[in-house]
Amino acid sequence: MKLTLTLPILVTILTHALIGGCNCKIVQFIFGDSLSDVGNNNFLSKSLARANLPWYGIDFGNGLPNGRFCNGRTVADIIGDEMGLPRPPAYLNQSLTEDVILEDGVNFASGGGGILNETGTYFIQRFSLYKQIDLFQGTQDLIREKIGSKEAEKFFQQARYVVALGSNDFINNYLMPVYSDSWTYNDKSFIQYLMETLRAQLILLHSLGARELMVFGLGPMGCIPLQRVLSTDGECQDKTNQLALAFNKATSELVVELSNTLPNASYKFGDAYDVVNDVITNPGNYGFSNSDSPCCSFGRIRPALTCIPASTLCSDRSKYVFWDEYHPSDSANELIAKELIKKLGFLNPNQTDASPPTPAATGPSSDEVGR
Ligand SMILES: *[C@@H]1O[C@H](CO)[C@@H](O)[C@H](O)[C@H]1NC(C)=O
Ligand SMILES: *[C@@H]1O[C@H](CO)[C@@H](O)[C@H](O)[C@H]1NC(C)=O
Ligand SMILES: *[C@@H]1O[C@H](CO)[C@@H](O)[C@H](O)[C@H]1NC(C)=O
Ligand SMILES: *[C@@H]1O[C@H](CO)[C@@H](O)[C@H](O)[C@H]1NC(C)=O
Repeated sequence: MKLTLTLPILVTILTHALIGGCNCKIVQFIFGDSLSDVGNNNFLSKSLARANLPWYGIDFGNGLPNGRFCNGRTVADIIGDEMGLPRPPAYLNQSLTEDVILEDGVNFASGGGGILNETGTYFIQRFSLYKQIDLFQGTQDLIREKIGSKEAEKFFQQARYVVALGSNDFINNYLMPVYSDSWTYNDKSFIQYLMETLRAQLILLHSLGARELMVFGLGPMGCIPLQRVLSTDGECQDKTNQLALAFNKATSELVVELSNTLPNASYKFGDAYDVVNDVITNPGNYGFSNSDSPCCSFGRIRPALTCIPASTLCSDRSKYVFWDEYHPSDSANELIAKELIKKLGFLNPNQTDASPPTPAATGPSSDEVGR
């Protein structure tokens, strides 16, 4: 960008340089799977994981499908809104320009994506975390060209980052016998493999400027309707839940360690496992009437892999914890978001720091479970 440096502009630039700030907004960059996808997969024409048919989106905006794997908002939507941060558009949205990126950030999340490249191949097209980071690097090139590398560096260092993946690495990889990881690893060595990969990815993000970053753990993914239907008695699959707990523990330790060792890093781990587990066990305490079946289902045929126009909906969508076989409903997401905000102390009204609080955003992914 060629700037004609009129005096006021020069003064502005100097002021910002002096205070070490950046003449730009604080935005979010979101890396995730279907719990955080806001439309990327709808542009992947061969993807089998797309929320592009009714009744997805029925309680969002105009009620048409918008790419979210939910009837309404994702947890990230809700937390970001509460924090006053803009909702980042999907990376593949045609209206994404440098100006939009500088105003709103970018959401790279993709349904079916995992920490591992090989996760979710069954869906044919999806962005795994490495691919999402590749795309982010392309975004950085564009912004550097637009505002110069010095301002761009500040812009990317003051942005908020969310990394919310992992459930597909289990549900759509390790736990499925069609994937070679399922016979190559055991529980312990698979989680080790995930941690080595995630460590490299989080260090890579740091080298690209990420300083304020949140990683979200997994919910009790053995209790999603799909997993219950696959168990003989309709109960939660304990083995799957144990894997989620082990993943959360290892990820939490990894994030603390990286936050302590990477320069200027403020990396946090958010885990909504207990909250979601309690909602599932005691739905009535939270105003829900059902916590074991999907609101959108195809009659008695279970599992229906996705919500489709021919499906029937439950009579009160706000009383179901799960929207489809994998994903929480809008009201469950709201409850999860509120609990995460409380638990992790975001939005502490006593914070007088001028900069917006860390975008807890996306605590959601934690609870996401699949696709
Ligand atoms: C693209 O993003 C804009 C806002 O940034 C939004 O209004 C629009 O609905 C998005 N398009 C699609 C197809 O999701
Ligand atoms: C994972 O995929 C990315 C491209 O998205 C590639 O650059 C990288 O080498 C792959 N890593 C492994 C371990 O296969
Ligand atoms: C860490 O922050 C200090 C003070 O803002 C800055 O001088 C330094 O370059 C930063 N280091 C890295 C690696 O970001
Ligand atoms: C904020 O400060 C008030 C008064 O010092 C205190 O009572 C309150 O607990 C604080 N709230 C939080 C969320 O820290």
